[in-house]
Amino acid sequence: MAFLIFIFIAFLFLIIFVFSSKKLSPIPYFPSNKKDIASITKALGLSNNQTIFDLGAGDGIIIFAAAKVANKKKLNTKFVAVEINPILILILLIRLFFHPNKKNIKIIRDDIFKMKLSFPTTNYSLLTTFYLYISPWFLEKVAKKISHEFPKAKIISYMYSIKSLKKSEKKIQGKNTIFVYR
Ligand SMILES: C[S@@+](CC[C@H](N)C(=O)[O-])C[C@H]1O[C@@H](n2cnc3c(N)ncnc32)[C@H](O)[C@@H]1O
Repeated sequence: MAFLIFIFIAFLFLIIFVFSSKKLSPIPYFPSNKKDIASITKALGLSNNQTIFDLGAGDGIIIFAAAKVANKKKLNTKFVAVEINPILILILLIRLFFHPNKKNIKIIRDDIFKMKLSFPTTNYSLLTTFYLYISPWFLEKVAKKISHEFPKAKIISYMYSIKSLKKSEKKIQGKNTIFVYR
């Protein structure tokens, strides 16, 4: 019995480590609020020949929900989920396997600060949308990277405003604020 309790506690610590370790992911995993999914999907403005990135996709709550809507509307929208945490990558891959629109979804294990974003979207570089739900102290850095690689991209930031893009800011009020930049 003591051995089982030990295994359980060790497993618990492993899970806590994987989800909170700054080494594995400098931004902690925290999913977008379920109640805001519809408003976020609307803000993404799904259309044909569009590519939507979720940088730090977590368990894919947004990407998979938006991809379902795109599928229902018969759109060819492409979705790219970038995640660094191996456990979340595993969850993303399992969810992808059962998704009705899996042909249009790409899961990438990479570091959003280091990767070249334009790599998977060479054909769709004009209509590119980024969804960000990351810690405010990293937002500016990622927004700059996006603007550098995709000057015409639309950016949706959940919960936190991007100071350097304030001029083009629009807000949607859900359970939390959704900031839209064009
Ligand atoms: C606040 S969560 C948001 C999850 C998801 N986008 C959502 O809206 O539910 C931030 C995610 O970013 C991931 N992350 C942190 N640092 C990263 C990095 N350098 N590269 C890729 N993903 C990262 C974390 O593992 C976490 O899943």
